Amino acid sequence: MIMERIPIAGPSITQLEIDYATDAAATGWYNNAGEYPRRFERAFANYLGVKHAVSLPSCTSGLHLALAALGIGPEDEVIVPDLTWIASAAPILYVGATPVFADVDTKTWCLSAESVRSCITDNTKAILAVDLYGGVPDYSALKRIAQERKLKIVEDAAEAFGSEFEGCKAGSLGDFAAFSFHGSKTMSTGEGGMLVTDSDELHDRVMHLRDHGREPGDIYFRNTEVAFKYKMPSVSAAIGLGQVERAEELVTRKREIYNWYRDELDGIEGIEFNYEPANTKNSYWMFTVVLQPEFELPKEKLMAGLDKEGVESRPFFYPLSSLPAFEGESQAKIARNRNKVSYDLSPWGINLPSALSLERSQVQFVAKVLRRTLRVI
Ligand SMILES: Cc1ncc(COP(=O)(O)O)c(C=O)c1O
Repeated sequence: MIMERIPIAGPSITQLEIDYATDAAATGWYNNAGEYPRRFERAFANYLGVKHAVSLPSCTSGLHLALAALGIGPEDEVIVPDLTWIASAAPILYVGATPVFADVDTKTWCLSAESVRSCITDNTKAILAVDLYGGVPDYSALKRIAQERKLKIVEDAAEAFGSEFEGCKAGSLGDFAAFSFHGSKTMSTGEGGMLVTDSDELHDRVMHLRDHGREPGDIYFRNTEVAFKYKMPSVSAAIGLGQVERAEELVTRKREIYNWYRDELDGIEGIEFNYEPANTKNSYWMFTVVLQPEFELPKEKLMAGLDKEGVESRPFFYPLSSLPAFEGESQAKIARNRNKVSYDLSPWGINLPSALSLERSQVQFVAKVLRRTLRVI
């Protein structure tokens, strides 16, 4: 008998998205070629309450464009949390700047404002804050620092569609924000991303940079600089339009899955879950557990235990400063010595299945397997 595995993540696609995608495939050409991207961008900007949204092939390309549009380059430093996916930091290197890996907060697992302060130098130009697993850092504190030190804030909201900080949607909290619509994300277009900003000036700059350094609508091929080609195809945008129209439903479902897990795992001592400070809303992209070291179950061992029973999981990110990819970075060694919270959290955390297709019975099964693995039945 083939055991059905419980997938780590995946989207919710309904007839609405299928109808829009079919229509885009049939009609999204000639004069209509830009119609679905425009509709998707408008709907997305309205949902967030921001002025401009630019649809892109990925979140990574959005972060790249944001840094390029801010004029960040060689000699500049950008502060980024040590605990995040590599895509938060790689674009800093694409523009030739230096990533400075700051520590995270023990409860939100997001950038610690205190650590940011200690990382600032005369070369610091921006803070790249990450909304990890749907949680948000203390943006009030980060904005205070940014104002005092004249720094830009770029929000990596890849994992935080539908989250909020003090009543403002994730994605509306910095000078720029970038979202991911990878197949694992709360809203998905398969692959894709969106860059958002309230600034007309930055938006104009992005529109120039994203199309090989020429004005939107230019048909004479008058490129004024060497830049990038980052656009989203119509069929993807059509799927995105359907997804954003279902935003509340998708986010409500994520929060429901989180609450199912909390019920099923109630009463286990020495285990922490995603945190939601009073002034925030967490869209719980990934239900995440962090074990006390006393369990003596490092994440790799825990993942192997779950895998044997058909339950997929993922490790809490390894600190970027510990990765071979950043071995040669001047800041990595400093970060390894400084970022105690990142290094204390990372070995003991995993993401449990959080797909939008998940049913309560599957969450009950995962919880049972987890309890058995932890020996806390
Ligand atoms: C925190 C974070 N930043 C950036 C990205 C990059 O997104 P994309 O794969 O759309 O470029 C991801 C995607 O997994 C992410 O989790």
